[in-house]
Amino acid sequence: MSGAERGAQPAREPTSGSAARRGFAMPGTRSGPAADPLPRGPAADPGGAGAPRLPPDAVVDLAAERGAAGVDEVLAALDAELVGLAPVKARIAEIAALLLVDRTRARFGITTAPPNLHMCFTGGPGTGKTTVALRMAGLLHRLGYLRRGHLITVTRDDLVGQYVGHTAPKTREVLKRAMGGVLFIDEAYYLHKAENERDYGSESIEILLQVMENHRDDLVVILAGYAAEMDVFFRSNPGMSSRIAHHITFPDYTADELEQIADRIADQLGYAFAPQARLALRDYLERRMARPRFANARSVRNAVERARLRQARRLVDGADPHVDRGALTTIEAADLLSSRVFGPDPGADGAEPGERGTADAYGSGTMPG
Ligand SMILES: Nc1ncnc2c1ncn2[C@@H]1O[C@H](COP(=O)(O)OP(=O)(O)OP(=O)(O)O)[C@@H](O)[C@H]1O
Ligand SMILES: [Mg+2]
Repeated sequence: MSGAERGAQPAREPTSGSAARRGFAMPGTRSGPAADPLPRGPAADPGGAGAPRLPPDAVVDLAAERGAAGVDEVLAALDAELVGLAPVKARIAEIAALLLVDRTRARFGITTAPPNLHMCFTGGPGTGKTTVALRMAGLLHRLGYLRRGHLITVTRDDLVGQYVGHTAPKTREVLKRAMGGVLFIDEAYYLHKAENERDYGSESIEILLQVMENHRDDLVVILAGYAAEMDVFFRSNPGMSSRIAHHITFPDYTADELEQIADRIADQLGYAFAPQARLALRDYLERRMARPRFANARSVRNAVERARLRQARRLVDGADPHVDRGALTTIEAADLLSSRVFGPDPGADGAEPGERGTADAYGSGTMPG
C-alpha cells in the first residue's frame, strides 16, 4: 500500500495564503527560495479569514461553530466505528477544539502562527494507527486546516534512494504529492540507520524537517512505529523529535475490545456470530493473544476472514445443499474451532497462516489495512 493516496477529498478553493496573512515567520529557519525545498502553494484557510472580521465586542457561539464545521459528526463517527482507543480519541477531540478556537480567534483578528500538528503514533501492530491517520486527515480538512485532506502513506523506500543524488528528488516528489494533506510515514524509524553513517536516510530527514517547519500550515506529517524503535529514532534525531507536537500512544486492545472489534468487522462484512460461535471466538482470542506475532485488530480481521472461508466451505461441501439467508450470514462455532490455534500443534511459532514474519505483522502491504 506504500505511496497510496487514500481518502482524497475535493480540493477546496484557496482563499489566501494563511502564512502570509498570519505574518508568521518561524524563528531559526532559513528563509528565501534557496532554503525551501518546495515552492509554496496556496495554503488552506484555517482561520476562516475569508469571513469578515468580527467587532471586538462580538460573542461567538462555539457550539454552533462546532456544528457548522461538522466536528461532532467526525468525532461521533470515530467513536462509533473504532472500538476503545480512549486516549487517542481524547487527543483528537483536543486538537479539534484547538483548531476551532484558533479559527474563532482569527475572526477577531487575533493572529498567531498556525498550531504545530505534526504527530507521532506509537503502538503495536494492528492497533489502529493507519486507520486513525486517515480519519485525522478528514478531520483536519473539515476544520479548514488542510486544503485537500488526503492521506499519502509511505515507507523508507518511497523517500530514500539507493544511489547518490536519488534521495532528494524522491523525497521532494512525495512531499509535493502530500501537500494540502497528511504525509503518513509508516515504520518511520527505518529512515535512520544508525549502523551506516553514509546512509541516505539522513538526507531525506533533513528535507522533511525543513518542509515540516516551512509548510506546516499546508502539510501534517504523522510518523508511525513501535514505541521502542521510535524512541531510539528520536534520540538520534532530536530535530525531528522537537518538531512533533503530538505524541499519541495506541494501547494494545483488551480481550473485550477485540471481541467488539470482531463483531464490528463481521457486521461490516454482513455476518453475525451464532451464540456458540461467540464463546468460541472469546476462547480463540484469548489463545491468539498469547501467541507470537499477535497483531491486535489485524489478527481479528484475519480471523474473521478465515472463519468466513471455513463457513463457505462448510456450506458448499455440506450434505444439504440448501441454504437460507440465516445460513449465509451466520458464523458457527465450527468455523472458528477448526483454527490451528485450537490444535495440538499450533505451528512452529504459534502464528496463524498469513501472519508470519514482521512484514505481515507490521503491514508492509500484504494485508489490507
Ligand atoms: N479500534 C478499532 N475498532 C475497529 N477496528 C479496528 C480498530 N483498530 C483497528 N481496526 C481494524 O484493524 C485493522 C488494522 O488497523 P490499522 O491498519 O489501522 O493498524 P496499524 O496500527 O496501522 O497496524 P500496523 O502497525 O500493522 O501498520 C484495520 O482493518 C482496522 O479497520
Ligand atoms: Mg499501519
